[in-house]
Amino acid sequence: MRIAVFMGGTSSEKEISLKSGEAVLESLIRQGYDAYGVVLDEKNQVSAFIDNDYDLAYLVLHGGNGENGKIQAVLDILGKKYTGSGVLASAMTMDKNKTKQIAQSVGIKVPKAYRTIEEIERFPVIIKPLDEGSSKGLFLCNNKEEAEEAVKKLAKPIIEDYIVGDELTVGVLNGKALGVLKIIPQADVLYDYDSKYAKGGSIHEFPARIEDKSYKEAMKIAEKIHNEFGMKGISRSDFILSEGELYFLEVNSSPGMTKTSLIPDLATLQGYTFDDVVRITVETFLK
Ligand code: DAL
Ligand code: MG
Repeated sequence: MRIAVFMGGTSSEKEISLKSGEAVLESLIRQGYDAYGVVLDEKNQVSAFIDNDYDLAYLVLHGGNGENGKIQAVLDILGKKYTGSGVLASAMTMDKNKTKQIAQSVGIKVPKAYRTIEEIERFPVIIKPLDEGSSKGLFLCNNKEEAEEAVKKLAKPIIEDYIVGDELTVGVLNGKALGVLKIIPQADVLYDYDSKYAKGGSIHEFPARIEDKSYKEAMKIAEKIHNEFGMKGISRSDFILSEGELYFLEVNSSPGMTKTSLIPDLATLQGYTFDDVVRITVETFLK
């Protein structure tokens, strides 16, 4: 049984994917699997799935075609087994507006969204890309001028209320929540790209020291999201806890697996090591 770990790709998150992919590959090799890595780029992103020999495609791709369902569609057509969510769940959850609308339709609270700058009812607002992760291009805008600047910088901007509160994230593995982690950014008020990936950029408090009621509710909502969208394997839902209210921000169908990522820390709350998560993933998707 051969496992190919696909990493890199063409999205703005490719460097993170390379780090996640290396960590997964090291873990597979450490556990005695016959595994090798394949780095995707602009040229080989389709042929890499045809030309290589593998029984399982372990996808460690963040953003773009690796997380929006397109690569999953190629693998479905090829009849190849792959890890993680399928085409529909990946495509739906890549669109932050659609994700929030669907979450809201099943009773989950989300920050209010605005379609245009003119619609904004109060500042500050967050302006971010519709379909990119890792907080690349995340802007906190205090007035209309700042909002106009931010919208110009993004290809597909979305606008939502900035909710002041604790940033929480919940990992889900095969439909069961792992635990709740609080992100305490060190550099800035926002958990942005730099604080996510720079060493010491943020502190992960896990389990999050929040009220028991909120902790349980965050676990429940993350499971509901995972199941409602038909996600598979690992997902990670992000929230803001503000005055006892949980606001769901987004769900990631291919969360980071680097050494400073959130999922490895969340897994320890269930007594899982990084290797356990990787092994469970292989066992789940090889069936
Ligand atoms: N999009 C990044 C990789 C994450 O959510 O972890
Ligand atoms: Mg994300």
